[in-house]
Amino acid sequence: MRLNNVKKRYGTQQVIHGVDLTIEDQEFAVFVGPSGCGKSTLLRMIAGLEETSEGEIWIGDREVTHLAPVDRNVAMVFQSYALYPHMTVEQNMSFALTANGMDKAEATRRVDAAAKILHIEDYLARKPAALSGGQRQRVAIGRAIVRDPEVFLFDEPLSNLDAELRVHMRFELERLHKRLDATMVYVTHDQVEAMTLADKIVVLQSGLIEQVGTPLELFDDPDNQFVAGFIGAPKMNFVPATVSEISEAGVTVTLPSLGSAQLTKKVETKALSKDQTITLGVRPEHFSFESCPGAQIKLQCELVEQLGDIAYRYAESESGERLIIGLRDDRTSKEGENFETFIPAERAFLFDEQGGRIR
Ligand SMILES: Nc1ncnc2c1ncn2[C@@H]1O[C@H](COP(=O)(O)OP(=O)(O)O)[C@@H](O)[C@H]1O
Ligand SMILES: [Mg+2]
Repeated sequence: MRLNNVKKRYGTQQVIHGVDLTIEDQEFAVFVGPSGCGKSTLLRMIAGLEETSEGEIWIGDREVTHLAPVDRNVAMVFQSYALYPHMTVEQNMSFALTANGMDKAEATRRVDAAAKILHIEDYLARKPAALSGGQRQRVAIGRAIVRDPEVFLFDEPLSNLDAELRVHMRFELERLHKRLDATMVYVTHDQVEAMTLADKIVVLQSGLIEQVGTPLELFDDPDNQFVAGFIGAPKMNFVPATVSEISEAGVTVTLPSLGSAQLTKKVETKALSKDQTITLGVRPEHFSFESCPGAQIKLQCELVEQLGDIAYRYAESESGERLIIGLRDDRTSKEGENFETFIPAERAFLFDEQGGRIR
């Protein structure tokens, strides 16, 4: 699937500002971003449920920009399952097929096959009111499967489920993707869902793509501060950093809110100047309790969140800078305790005033 400079306006308000994107055949692509960034709008434009104001949408070798939804060979699954309450599960799944002229035997064959994949064979005669949330969502997915579309579109399909069921359905969706070998585009505001499901993540903000990449590319090598802060939980720590020296070894920054600790990192220094204020980022899991090249800092532990496999220290520096530090298999963290730790230069990210990554 290809989007070429796709834009969307509602009256005079523009909400999608020119999106260029390629999604490969059989890829699982996830649109992620904060509420209101345009994920659903973009997905609905692909589905044909929203008019595209400008640009082109291609599926395979067909331009579909202005085709009706039924002519695009896509199937969409919504957060609100949108099942017909007066129809049985079987009828909900077969309705669109027979309404479009498919013969009854073929429709039944497809419904049975989809029901088997989704483990809902036993519920085919029930009405939606007699199903749990997870079962209803399976029926909604089944209704998409029976149409055998080229592309599946999912808009936050798991948001209405409780936490445990969400994890379970996530796993089922991964299996489904492998089994069907279909192209899937999935919208979520949940970065954990994005990380676990996606072959390719598309991070959106305010109607623009911030970065496209595999989950680990976005985690290990974010292009900007927005992506760095959005991917990863708890999120990356950001602290002000002043450029104090530029040399062969790279840039040396001073961290005024962390006792003026210093750190030198090999990066492209062309656009940097002495005394410039930039931002240093470090993920909670990346602090080191062994001496290493980097900034040695002193903190006080305010609060400990012990999760068993990892503990998070919510800590504060003398001048009030707050950091979150994750420690694996930790049994020693104590609230109120003073401690020293290192921000390893190797693990530190630097961002300029516009939030662009300094690599
Ligand atoms: N029918 C509409 N008319 C006007 N503005 C809309 C309409 N639908 C969505 N928007 C606006 O478009 C932006 C993107 O919305 P949406 O795609 O639903 O975001 P997301 O799914 O990422 O939460 C929001 O600012 C929203 O207010
Ligand atoms: Mg939405």
